[in-house]
Amino acid sequence: MPPYARLGVDLGFDSLMRTDLQRSIAAQFPDRMDALHRDLPEDPTVRDLVDRLGDGGGPVPQAPATPAPAPAQAVPPLVPQPARPAVKQEYAFEEWAEYAELQGRLRQARSGGSNPYGRSHEGFNSAEATIGGRKVVNFAAFNYLALSGHPQVRQAAKEAIDQYGTSASATPLLFGETPLHHELDAEIASFLGTGAAIVFAGGHATNVATVGHLFGPEDLIVHDEWSHDSTVRGCVLSGARRRPFPHNDWEALDRILTALRGRHRRALVVIEGAYSQDGDIPDLPRFIEVKQRHGAMLMIDEAHSVGVLGETGRGIGEHFAVDRADVDLWMGTLSKAIGSLGGYIAAREPIVEYLRFTAPLHIFSTGISPANAAAALEAIRVVRKEPQRVARLRELSDFFRDGARERGLDIGVSRASAVIPVITGDWEKTMALSNSLLEQGVNVMPIGYPAVERDKCRLRFFVNVDHTEVDLETSLDLLV
Ligand SMILES: Cc1ncc(COP(=O)(O)O)c(C=O)c1O
Repeated sequence: MPPYARLGVDLGFDSLMRTDLQRSIAAQFPDRMDALHRDLPEDPTVRDLVDRLGDGGGPVPQAPATPAPAPAQAVPPLVPQPARPAVKQEYAFEEWAEYAELQGRLRQARSGGSNPYGRSHEGFNSAEATIGGRKVVNFAAFNYLALSGHPQVRQAAKEAIDQYGTSASATPLLFGETPLHHELDAEIASFLGTGAAIVFAGGHATNVATVGHLFGPEDLIVHDEWSHDSTVRGCVLSGARRRPFPHNDWEALDRILTALRGRHRRALVVIEGAYSQDGDIPDLPRFIEVKQRHGAMLMIDEAHSVGVLGETGRGIGEHFAVDRADVDLWMGTLSKAIGSLGGYIAAREPIVEYLRFTAPLHIFSTGISPANAAAALEAIRVVRKEPQRVARLRELSDFFRDGARERGLDIGVSRASAVIPVITGDWEKTMALSNSLLEQGVNVMPIGYPAVERDKCRLRFFVNVDHTEVDLETSLDLLV
């Protein structure tokens, strides 16, 4: 690792890698953390770190005109090992630095007025919500197609409770499935056109469990830098070498695979069908072409694209009319457009069979309840029967995007999806706007660091099929 290599630009460190590095430095050099926070440049070089942590030593080699490729031999430790000071022992949780840091963030959140986090809603969480007995226009629900309150979906859930009770009462592999669970697996596979599908308890858990279980230390996982926390945690659990690539940049992905694929047993590329904080979509055919050229697998997280993209809501695959077999793992959640709870992997039969019999989440964790399975099953049937819901959602999302642009609001790279951020910049301003909108009858959540960069704080609008054009225009006018 050349000393002039920058952590971000050259070595691909993302926020999670930086946090890990910061933790290990804090454990070994607690007394130097203040100075590091003060002095380090935004994207430090290896030498910047070594100078501040070790004795520096030796002249700093100059960067060659064309940076040399990273050598294949073992990477020397970033910090000198022998001079390791004794670890500061911590006991009471209340004294942990992490807890103090959280308190600081909460103080900051409260300083902008009331704290928007952890508020409850008193009715359906849809285009409208009730907060403290007051009805507001709501942009904080994943419930894109308003299916969680749909009469048929609710009826199906109630009947499932009466027939099977409120819990699956065992893990899926060990007698925890009803016929509804099996029907749901088959329905997802048939809806998406894959050989099979498997449902897990929780969308987040699905990513952690699948990526973490299928891949290991000999493998390479390359993912979009905007990937959801669940994917990144799955990568960490797998022990695979992880490299984020700049958002949507399939050429950068191609370069990473060219440099690294040959040194790894298997390679996985992970992208999203619609990015959850920005509402952008990937150029899927390009990614398929790159993954095929390098003999890698491709996984797409469709949490925000299934039920939203494509003429009939079948997601990013339908949007680009790609061959289903060109993507290895179609991951999705049942908690968003599908109005229930859980996550799924739709894939060819051998992959699903392997997950069914070996994924720890399927063997050791109770699955979704019969009511959740029935709701998801009925919701997919409603989407099949009423594709006009998907068309209407698309129409409203485009209307909101156009309206925001006309008013000079910064909606970043949002396109095609129903996630539309209004980028407001710093945190205080974003919180103040969220609180002020709520006072005026509009509920929209502020999103800040670490979910997005510190200067890209935003109000994140989820458009809902039950919004009206008047709801959207009024909310935009209030925001302006
Ligand atoms: C892209 C993405 N993947 C996975 C998840 C996790 O899904 P769930 O909320 O169903 O656990 C989310 C949740 O917001 C998400 O945005």
